[in-house]
Amino acid sequence: LLLDASKGSSRPIPDTLFGIFFEEINHAGAGGLWAELVSNRGFEAGGPNVPSNIDPWSIIGNETFLIVATDRSSLFDRNKIALQMEVLCDTQGSNICPSGGVGIYNPGFWGMNIEQGKSYKVVFYVRSTDAVNISVSLTSSDGLQSLASANVIASASDVSNWTKKELLLTAEGTNHTSRLQLTTAKKGVIWFDQVSAMPVDTYKRHGFRNELFQMLADIKPQFIRFPGGCFVEGEWLRNAFRWKETIGPWEERPGHFGDVWMYWTDDGLGYFEFLQLAEDLNALPIWVFNNGISHQDQVDTTSVLPFVQEALDGIEFARGNASSKWGSVRAVMGHPKPFNLKYVAVGNEDCGKKNYRGNYLKFYDAIKRTYPDIQIISNCDGSNGPLDHPADFYDFHVYTSANDLFSKAHKFDQTSRNGPKAFVSEYAVTGNDAGKGSLKAALAEAAFLVGLEKNSDVVQMASYAPLFVNTNDRRWNPDAIVFDSSQVYGTPSYWVQRFFVESSGATLLNATLKTNSSAQLIASAITWQSGDGKTYIRIKVVNFGNSSVNLSIDVAGLDPNSEQLTGPTKTELTSTNLMDENSFTEQKKVAPGNGTTLPDGEMDVVLKPYS
Ligand code: AHR
Repeated sequence: LLLDASKGSSRPIPDTLFGIFFEEINHAGAGGLWAELVSNRGFEAGGPNVPSNIDPWSIIGNETFLIVATDRSSLFDRNKIALQMEVLCDTQGSNICPSGGVGIYNPGFWGMNIEQGKSYKVVFYVRSTDAVNISVSLTSSDGLQSLASANVIASASDVSNWTKKELLLTAEGTNHTSRLQLTTAKKGVIWFDQVSAMPVDTYKRHGFRNELFQMLADIKPQFIRFPGGCFVEGEWLRNAFRWKETIGPWEERPGHFGDVWMYWTDDGLGYFEFLQLAEDLNALPIWVFNNGISHQDQVDTTSVLPFVQEALDGIEFARGNASSKWGSVRAVMGHPKPFNLKYVAVGNEDCGKKNYRGNYLKFYDAIKRTYPDIQIISNCDGSNGPLDHPADFYDFHVYTSANDLFSKAHKFDQTSRNGPKAFVSEYAVTGNDAGKGSLKAALAEAAFLVGLEKNSDVVQMASYAPLFVNTNDRRWNPDAIVFDSSQVYGTPSYWVQRFFVESSGATLLNATLKTNSSAQLIASAITWQSGDGKTYIRIKVVNFGNSSVNLSIDVAGLDPNSEQLTGPTKTELTSTNLMDENSFTEQKKVAPGNGTTLPDGEMDVVLKPYS
């Protein structure tokens, strides 16, 4: 491998090159990064009509003791369903309530992770026909072991008077599959609505589950594309993500059924929270909005203006000043300073659909007129020829086999350098080569990324997809980060990302491999200044072949007056079998070690097969 470290042959890599794509898929947000423990907290998931399904809420006690129903008496206009509980038993008389009382429980998202010593904020709205003592508790999944509990008095009030109750529960034990119970032993009628339980300890108290946030922070993403994907489009427009429905006080959000990935979300992780997440990660937000097109229906270009206005309002919400109409809403939510929104994508994978071009142009013109600096991303692939519409970026998605992705390391070698830049916003090896995240998939992706790095004069942003999977609801395989209520690990594809954390904003060196034609090798090299003031070189080589390779590395063009680097380190990602995966029990079976230090000046390395 010949490296030329002289200034003349090097070129800067865009600051934005490697980032992440967050989609609400696989319960990535609801039941994932968003730390809310209660699933279907407003009882809205069963739809607006009554009687409705309260799943996953369940009843404690049988119909001798209580009748649970839904009605439309909520305090909140955009989510009218409330839960009504008629308690037939009492502490005395002929129908004595069972010990522990009767009521309802919520199992969260396949169990709540409750940890000893940690505090949980429980909030709910209640009204009642009689003064009643309600026990609020976090218990084991069978309700038998109490981890934390407190009593709340709901006073006898006018039945139309809702009261907000807030309490802090500190757990006296640990249980990863707990549930939240609301029980009573007093006869009467009680209504509940908007029941939330949040761990107090979330990232900066912003509501993000700490260890999942950390997995993202560790790959130093330069941007975050959100909130989808197909989630943005919807199977039908009526179920698409609409940002205005996801902002403001959490109690007032209607929530919606994501009909592509087929689950309900209360939209606790809404547009504001996505922008906050980007800021907390020090990443640029890239907002993908619906352009009037879903999988099954689309708005004609002549009627798309309301969608255009919605997008303009969304931009104003993110970056308008605090006295603007939508900027003021953001300020009330606690963020008077504008967010750093500079990129928007007009739809997702909609190019070629009947109204895409027409709709796109309406968005493009209106946004450029009001916000000339905003970079606009088209869904149409411009890698093989010019687009027929103006754009700053074009979106490129690839899900394929390992061999194919390996060869696609050269996909952008011949792409025109004039015109819009490429945003590879979704890529992954899928299918048999990938399983639930194999070494084989990761190596092909590593090769692809090396290719993108080498082509980063035209490819300016890239992100793996999907990012997260809650192992209880796999809608897509594979994914970068796997979790359940209490555990998390990265797939080999996640660990590949870690090799690229210094690349964005670094300098690309000319790296030439001299090999025989059968070798399945690809390499790149970067140089960057670290926080310690020193300049480092990182060489990444993927050996996608089944034999080991003796690689000697020559670095030319170093400044002869500079102090020579000592002690190069070699960090390797490989495993015994090509299809090896990580799991909760073997979280780092396929993960890079800490690296081994090579003798001073030693630049010959052995590349293991498939490494
Ligand atoms: O990443 C999963 C899905 O793949 C995305 O929602 C969509 O954009 C693509 O088809």
